[in-house]
Amino acid sequence: MSASKAPLLSTRGLRKRYKLRGGNAVRQITAVDDVSIQLASGETLAVVGESGCGKSTLAKLITQLEIPDEGELVFDGRPVSTRSRRERLAFRRDVQIVLQDPYGSLTPHFRVHTLVAEPLRIHRLATPSKLPTRVAEILESVGLAPEIAGRFPHELSGGQRQRVSIARAIATRPRLIVCDEPVSALDVSVRSQIVNLLLDLQRELGLSYLFISHDLALVDHIADVVCVMYLGRIVEQASAAAFFAAPRHPYSRALIASSPVPDPRRRHGAPAVHGEVEVGATTSGCRFRNRCPMALAKCAETDPPLRVLAADHLVACHRADELGEPLPFAEQIR
Ligand SMILES: Nc1ncnc2c1ncn2[C@@H]1O[C@H](COP(=O)(O)OP(=O)(O)OP(=O)(O)O)[C@@H](O)[C@H]1O
Ligand code: SF4
Ligand SMILES: [Mg+2]
Repeated sequence: MSASKAPLLSTRGLRKRYKLRGGNAVRQITAVDDVSIQLASGETLAVVGESGCGKSTLAKLITQLEIPDEGELVFDGRPVSTRSRRERLAFRRDVQIVLQDPYGSLTPHFRVHTLVAEPLRIHRLATPSKLPTRVAEILESVGLAPEIAGRFPHELSGGQRQRVSIARAIATRPRLIVCDEPVSALDVSVRSQIVNLLLDLQRELGLSYLFISHDLALVDHIADVVCVMYLGRIVEQASAAAFFAAPRHPYSRALIASSPVPDPRRRHGAPAVHGEVEVGATTSGCRFRNRCPMALAKCAETDPPLRVLAADHLVACHRADELGEPLPFAEQIR
């Protein structure tokens, strides 16, 4: 959303459908639906939303682990789909992913040395004789002692395993790391250490992050831009400052109101929105209308487009103009 900077990453109308088989019937869901985002170099774009809204699918589309059915991915000014084989390899070097479950993403029978050396070998970033030194340097930069290199993943703590995942991600000197809930599986005591490590690496290496999280207090702490997803769509997209001061979509307000807050003196919000995400529940109109406390008749008739409310604020809601006031204190997560 930084208008002054050329985006490092932009997506235009990304769409991904999956077929769901139940008995003889085959149903199709659109996991990511017409998603257009922009991420500036050195910035963090956070993606939030309930389980099943399409966050991980978006992460897979951006890292090319999945191919979109429609839309375009532009990285560093060039569409990814028109790149040559060599340029695609460079894209895979420039864009890395860190997942929620470091145990699942690290091959269990490889030692840490092999795991961190693998991306260096694939992308020919170190000669065999230089590999041990380079691996030790990378481990040091994620706060791991050199002797960790000889261990297997099961011989590490959860925090150490996630540091190894981050080491693998930064080994190729990427420009963008997609972080899919990188701290939510970790013990609370190590979460802030890993978050601080990611922030330090961002400063040192000039990284951009696409950061998926359920933790709105964390998003408030780290994000420059916030995107709220609901049933595959972006329903609100704003600078973090604008978003947390006055979210303009009823769903965003409900997410914030139901967000656990660290300070026990403040309200621990009961869910302000009822029901669950219903995949394919609505075929016309606003897809949030069955749960929305502000729904009107026109919400069932017309699907609200994502529209510009301010230079740094887009919202898909017919009644967004009525939600211009800052959040009441009790509903703020700060
Ligand atoms: N490979 C697949 N085949 C079929 N459906 C899929 C596939 N991957 C995801 N989906 C469906 O797409 C939707 C979006 O899934 P996705 O994993 O992107 O959600 P999410 O927002 O990451 O959820 P969570 O917060 O639980 O991780 C869900 O309805 C999911 O069941
Ligand atoms: S368009 Fe209507 S139903 Fe949808 S979020 Fe806005 S008020 Fe609620
Ligand atoms: Mg997910």
